[in-house]
Amino acid sequence: MTGLTFRPATTADAPVLVDIYNFYVSTSTVTFDLDRWTAADMEHKMETVAKLEMPFIVAELDDDVVGYGYLSTWRDKCAYETTMENTLYLRADSRGRGIGGPLLDELVRLGAVAGVREIIAVISASADAVPSIRLHEKAGFARVGEMPNVGRKFDEWLGVVMLQKSLA
Ligand SMILES: CC(C)(COP(=O)(O)OP(=O)(O)OC[C@H]1O[C@@H](n2cnc3c(N)ncnc32)[C@H](O)[C@@H]1OP(=O)(O)O)[C@@H](O)C(=O)NCCC(=O)NCCS
Repeated sequence: MTGLTFRPATTADAPVLVDIYNFYVSTSTVTFDLDRWTAADMEHKMETVAKLEMPFIVAELDDDVVGYGYLSTWRDKCAYETTMENTLYLRADSRGRGIGGPLLDELVRLGAVAGVREIIAVISASADAVPSIRLHEKAGFARVGEMPNVGRKFDEWLGVVMLQKSLA
């Protein structure tokens, strides 16, 4: 897509990124967070990802921030250290414009550079997350599991599906 670029996120991006994320916290079951984040929460996430030496990137369309994504710890125990979980969010008005695919591809590319072997996507098994599941499948993630009823949001029990992409 013309005009779409990626760059590392900085703490100066935190207020914009937290607004992108909080839209989904308040309106959607794509995230199981129930409480809105603060900019400090987003900065803390950036610091955590930086300590892991994993990518945390911002997508810009004509210099306007339209989304972000990062790789972070899948499971804490040391033997999992080459397996990361991916996260990506587009600004609500930037969905459905062909940005999610390149953003996910860039995260995968940077993950490979950082030595990641397996990427796990844990996605809500709800109607809200259909685009995300479809996007991951198109990017070569395979469905490897499903857990029903592990979360509750908006008075609804929610499951998750897990998808995995091997970079090995
Ligand atoms: C998930 C997300 C990153 C996808 O990015 P996007 O640029 O909007 O993705 P696309 O528009 O290419 O849609 C992805 C696919 O889902 C399909 N899709 C979208 N809405 C759909 C719906 N309601 N039902 C069925 N398929 C749908 C699209 O047609 C497309 O598939 P196709 O390329 O085969 O046509 C973006 O929508 C987003 O940020 N969503 C909210 C946050 C989120 O879910 N993040 C992921 C958390 S794990």
